[in-house]
Amino acid sequence: MRKPIVLGNWKLNGTPAASDALVASILAGMASLDAVDIGVCPPCVLIPQAVHQTTGTHLAVGAQNCSEFVTGAYTGEVSADMLREVGCRYVLVGHSERRALFGETNEIAARKVHIALKSGLTPVLCVGETLEERESGQMNTVVEGQIQAVLNEVGIELFARLVIAYEPIWAIGTGLTATPAQAQAMHAMIRGVLGAQSPAVARAVRIQYGGSVKADNAAQLFAEPDIDGGLIGGASLKAEDFLVICRAAADSSR
Ligand code: PGA
Repeated sequence: MRKPIVLGNWKLNGTPAASDALVASILAGMASLDAVDIGVCPPCVLIPQAVHQTTGTHLAVGAQNCSEFVTGAYTGEVSADMLREVGCRYVLVGHSERRALFGETNEIAARKVHIALKSGLTPVLCVGETLEERESGQMNTVVEGQIQAVLNEVGIELFARLVIAYEPIWAIGTGLTATPAQAQAMHAMIRGVLGAQSPAVARAVRIQYGGSVKADNAAQLFAEPDIDGGLIGGASLKAEDFLVICRAAADSSR
């Protein structure tokens, strides 16, 4: 049985005061949510205060990105080791906004996954297709390519230590959600790609769905057999909505 995982991706939102209030509200509402792993991914500069606030609790902290480099003359970068040392547990890798807006290729994402694993972080590998790729029937090939690049870099055994987030790009921040059946089909496809190399890893790896997950659609999505929780953008900025989504994930594991 895979334990569901729900992560909040705050993107470029939050101030020290707003982060403090949001984390406090989440902590106040998650007492009975042991059946789900829960984390928040604030902007980098807010991570230390979130770690301080959540120490000793069941709320984990993640980062939204890390450098593909370990150390050196890379102005503006933050390394996986630094994130780990300040108390992060997770790091998002290859989010579609990083790929589309900041030129992150499959190969860069693969190197980041590798470096995150070496530092002891759990990488959350984000994959997903554009609307054009879906409509032209390329979606499975695209997502398989995104997975394969990481398989080439780290191998199947280390994949057991990843979380995967399937996020169709056309559903991110748009209010359009993949139907449970569309999401389930892609999750099963991803598990199939991994299963061809290791059925055990395919069974163990957690695959989140992301893209306009809201309080009122989370339960149907999480009810699908291959959907193990969600990566939540907009709805993670309101504690009340985020907690409803976490509750839906907890209930789906019964
Ligand atoms: P959204 O974002 O929930 O606002 O669609 C999801 C994501 O980008 O991770």
